[in-house]
Amino acid sequence: MDPFAELVDYEKVALSAMAEAATSEDLEAVRIEFLGQKKGRLRTLQSLIGKIDNEQRPAFGKQFNETKTNVASALQRRQSELSRPESVASGLDITLPSIAVEHGRRHPLTQTIDEFKDIMGRFGFSVVEGPEIEDEHHNFEALNIPEEHPARDPLDNFYLAAAKSAAGGPVLLRSQTSTVQIRVMEKTEPPIRIVSVGRVYRPDTIDATHSCMFHQMEGLMLGDDVTMSQLKTVLSMFAAAYLGHDVGIRFRPSFFPFTEPSVEVDMNWGENWLEIGGAGMVDPNVLRGVGYDPEKVTGFAFGLGIERFCMKRHGITDIRRLLENDVRFLRQF
Ligand code: DAH
Repeated sequence: MDPFAELVDYEKVALSAMAEAATSEDLEAVRIEFLGQKKGRLRTLQSLIGKIDNEQRPAFGKQFNETKTNVASALQRRQSELSRPESVASGLDITLPSIAVEHGRRHPLTQTIDEFKDIMGRFGFSVVEGPEIEDEHHNFEALNIPEEHPARDPLDNFYLAAAKSAAGGPVLLRSQTSTVQIRVMEKTEPPIRIVSVGRVYRPDTIDATHSCMFHQMEGLMLGDDVTMSQLKTVLSMFAAAYLGHDVGIRFRPSFFPFTEPSVEVDMNWGENWLEIGGAGMVDPNVLRGVGYDPEKVTGFAFGLGIERFCMKRHGITDIRRLLENDVRFLRQF
């Protein structure tokens, strides 16, 4: 065969062998056969140069080099085709450069709530849920808050004009999560160790530390010998677990209709103290109301404001930031 025709033939055969190679291993065999340095077909073609007339030699050299380049670059293309993942065939090419997409994140309050449940879980408290729309029995009466008590003033609560309870009485957006204590005690026998986290609603004037909707974590521990000192231990350990051991916590004597004795809990806030919740030993009237014998059952309860803990932990100075959904703020958590 004419040496020029041999070059053309070589290229044709090499290209079709590459197209047929189904795996990288097949292709490697093709490479060795056609481009191999030692015994490959290309070397054989190169030796033809000696048999060519002087005046044809430069033309042959040029065509030889072109053929070699064509075959070598076809090999490279086929190599990258075969090493591409299968997903390419389905139209999804995971080898393409990526575009950075910012992930969403959980709201700082949600993160706080999850951490609260986790800490209390480690103390042996399980998590229960309660309704946000309540009747007066659970929001007030069962908590020893009588009809004439100022906390029941309609101006201090969000009563719902358009709804009624199952018994036909008025309903309101719960003003405290203490309602859940009652719901749990109504259908459970002691010992009890629960927390409940949720929203509460009060028509308060909104400022940097008050909002008309905020979150509380209610806790209840009942048994035959639960003490006030256990209450203080649980709350101090809880505050240290969430805010660190150097947080200052103090208990002040106080009054709640549903606990006796009662305390308010403060944490240090700059130079001052900020109230973070109330607590106490469950009042015998409350225990009797749900059918327990106060001679046999004792317990403590507490209600903590979640926003203020979250603000303290992250150095947030205005509670309103937590409700504005400004991504420049939320992105920081
Ligand atoms: N419910 C009270 C409030 O919202 C907080 C509270 C005080 C809850 C004493 C309790 C408690 O369980 O024992 O202000």
